[in-house]
Amino acid sequence: MDKIYSINGPVVKVKNSRSFSMTEMVYVGKKRLISEVIGVNSDLTTIQVYEGTTGLMPGEPVVGTGAAMSALLGPGIITNIFDGIERPLRSLAELTGAFIGDGAEVSPLDTERKFNVTVTVKPGDRLSAGQVYATCPETPVITHKCMLQPLSKGGEVIWTAPDGEYTINDTVVKIRTDRGTEEELTLCQKWPIRTPRPSAERLPIDRPLITGQRVIDTIAPIAKGGTAAIPGGFGTGKTMTQHQLAKWCDADIIVYIGCGERGNEMTQVLEEFSELTDPRTGRPLTDRTVLIANTSNMPVSAREASIYTGITLAEYYRDMGYHIAIMADSTSRWAEALRELSGRLEEMPAEEGFPAYLPSRISEFYERAGYVKTLGGSEGSVSIIGAVSPQGSDFSEPVTQNTKRFVRCFWALDKSLAYARHYPAINWTSSYSEYTDDLAEYYRKNVAPDFMEVRQEISNILNKESSLMEIVKLMGADVLPDDQKLLIETAKAVRVGFLQQNAYHKDDTYVPLEKQYRMMKLIIRFYELGREALEKGVTVSRVISTGWTEKIIKVKYDIPNDKPEMFDEYIQSMESDFAELTGGVSVGA
Ligand SMILES: Nc1ncnc2c1ncn2[C@@H]1O[C@H](COP(=O)(O)OP(=O)(O)OP(=O)(O)O)[C@@H](O)[C@H]1O
Ligand SMILES: [Mg+2]
Repeated sequence: MDKIYSINGPVVKVKNSRSFSMTEMVYVGKKRLISEVIGVNSDLTTIQVYEGTTGLMPGEPVVGTGAAMSALLGPGIITNIFDGIERPLRSLAELTGAFIGDGAEVSPLDTERKFNVTVTVKPGDRLSAGQVYATCPETPVITHKCMLQPLSKGGEVIWTAPDGEYTINDTVVKIRTDRGTEEELTLCQKWPIRTPRPSAERLPIDRPLITGQRVIDTIAPIAKGGTAAIPGGFGTGKTMTQHQLAKWCDADIIVYIGCGERGNEMTQVLEEFSELTDPRTGRPLTDRTVLIANTSNMPVSAREASIYTGITLAEYYRDMGYHIAIMADSTSRWAEALRELSGRLEEMPAEEGFPAYLPSRISEFYERAGYVKTLGGSEGSVSIIGAVSPQGSDFSEPVTQNTKRFVRCFWALDKSLAYARHYPAINWTSSYSEYTDDLAEYYRKNVAPDFMEVRQEISNILNKESSLMEIVKLMGADVLPDDQKLLIETAKAVRVGFLQQNAYHKDDTYVPLEKQYRMMKLIIRFYELGREALEKGVTVSRVISTGWTEKIIKVKYDIPNDKPEMFDEYIQSMESDFAELTGGVSVGA
């Protein structure tokens, strides 16, 4: 029998064994702690233990399972809360304090719960990898589809169970493979967490993941199947932004990975999500959410695994034809777990003590995002949004820099905006999206033909303002000519009226694209009318005294989301105010 030779924190070594293979899941010690093989050579096997190793002694047994570290995939995942290695944390208390006992072999999914299964194939049908053979309602809003394992060679259906109530381990279909062997299909399957699940083909990324957050949707939009990072110093709003996205983005399913952050924040997610009604389904948001919680008080090695567990669950639902959004808060804590484990393994450290493979791990993670044609023939996507917490808001540190290389949206949270209570504190000059061009057609077709031009005009106003600010800082605003003062006034309307968004206001917390567009149009109309008035000799202070800047700033609260036609009334009334200003001469049409 193989025995423990040495123990260093979560790293255990076994001498002279030939029984283990790389990434195999093993049980370590008398308590059978869940562990994974992370290194093998002719004389030493290195194992990472996913649970506390306090009290573990050399000489205790190590037993292999012959299988890679895997996630169990089947109905019962949604609404659940798991730790980093997919053990169910059944109650909120477990999130913040007491855990399931060490090495407890609990099934990740409830094995007694019955699902109302409809078998969708019949004897004689051919079934190939990724094809659906049964469905069941998993929650009132998510239909679970049981699919033939991605690596299966497929075969002919030779038996099906009648529709009815089954548990995840009941056989519902039998197939005969081409080699003549029989395979029994249940409601669940396993998949190694570190291996991406295959798909038929990667599709172009040209549909937006609509978030209802103005600065994101219009300034730096993310696509379905895309990747984004939210870097930000302490308290700048990373978690809050992720909560907003989880609540409002138009994904079918949310996988929320709480990685090394506070346990009470996860409790908060759960509480808020069960109270909040999903506007699209009328049901609590928990009905389409799964939480992976590996909070700051849980073992660091399981934190390293939590990212892979989360993305494996997401890919599984993608394969059913759903759109998934993953929130990972925070990938910096995950990188710190890598660093700690690497230190225990006595690897050569690279930048700031992180292992040399940090960039490749980050890239492997974000590469699992995508919009795909599934093996079963439908379309699905996984979008990944990762928070990054650089110490002291220093974006030049390795995790932020390497993340920036591999994501295509960068929503930089700004300390000074957060101090000024400009929320969301996403800096509009340093943030960007590389999806904008690919999404242009969607916006033109589905929101307004001139959406991209309007958006560009808003960006121009902001850019001009920031160059003017250099002068204002040196010499004060008084030296500026009237047209530049008007620009600064308009930019204020953009920043306060449009970019700032109140997460706590019932209408402003989520804003549909049409209202976002009309808000921009209103600001641009104000700028046009103002310039025309200036040309007619009206002073800028009289333009400002119309009070329209304030009205524009309040429009987010004053015009409800479902009354976009009110914008027409606003524009008419603005036009008549300006007509009065210029002496009854109507300006513009
Ligand atoms: N969009 C927002 N609307 C209103 N308030 C916000 C918003 N974003 C952040 N805040 C305020 O900032 C506080 C800190 O936000 P949050 O916890 O999200 O920051 P964080 O970057 O995750 O911090 P940490 O580094 O501690 O994880 C919140 O409690 C809230 O008061
Ligand atoms: Mg946070």
